[in-house]
Amino acid sequence: MPDEVTPGSIAWLRASVARFSNGPDHVRRRALAVDALAPVDADSLQHKAFERTCRLTAGLDVVDVMATIARPVPVGVLAEALGLPDVSADVVPVAAAYHPHVTPDAAAEAALGRLIAACGGPGERTAARIGLLVQACDATAGLIGNRLFASLTGKPAEQPVLATRRRIGGEDVTVPLTGTPFGAGPRACPGSRHAEALATGVLEALRGFRLTERETTWVAAPNLRMPAVLQVARSRPAGGLC
Ligand code: HEM
Repeated sequence: MPDEVTPGSIAWLRASVARFSNGPDHVRRRALAVDALAPVDADSLQHKAFERTCRLTAGLDVVDVMATIARPVPVGVLAEALGLPDVSADVVPVAAAYHPHVTPDAAAEAALGRLIAACGGPGERTAARIGLLVQACDATAGLIGNRLFASLTGKPAEQPVLATRRRIGGEDVTVPLTGTPFGAGPRACPGSRHAEALATGVLEALRGFRLTERETTWVAAPNLRMPAVLQVARSRPAGGLC
């Protein structure tokens, strides 16, 4: 790890996760993430994501999907499966500050401090668990947002992550992902089954909803294709599918 990295900072997280590591560091840190995910049962994630979405939408006629469901539900359910409390409110700002081209703000640094404490203090194992939650956050939200938009409009569902950024020799390198939404090779996403299960559970619970008049807007980042705001309204009586 570079000397100038403050332990417990966002820079520390980047320097400690598989995602931005190379060589033996990548192999060791990826194994920590894969081992942490191994006992997590995909069917149980799907069921819990369905139940949590039902709970959050109960009594609501209009739902802002990206803010209230697509990020908090998968992250909260995955955190619980990893033996953590619901840390989704802290994962969201850390995920927004995670990539090396972003300058983290004080809120993201504070959120990471709380996540580190919840995960058992600084170390590579903690970084691996936080890495899983952060990697799951925006990408799974994109999967959910794109599939929901597609199912409600009849248009094809687009791939949420169009390109991935890696850090090689201190430089950011962009690698296109055309046709491989979960990547490929030794860096392929280790959470693809879990992400599919979480998305399926959420989408089942949203089957009674339709698009509202509010225009769907899209995230501006060139490597992402996912809604920024996607609003739906209940079209069946509450309690239908849930
Ligand atoms: C439960 C949800 C998820 C978890 C826990 C997860 C976890 C991870 C982790 C730990 C990595 C780093 C692997 C490494 O560097 O060796 C990764 C990479 C990746 N993930 Fe996921 N992920 C999730 C959801 C998704 C979704 C929904 C997508 C896109 C549809 C996605 C696309 C990718 C891609 C493309 C990479 C490779 C990045 C690269 O090659 O640099 N992930 N994921």
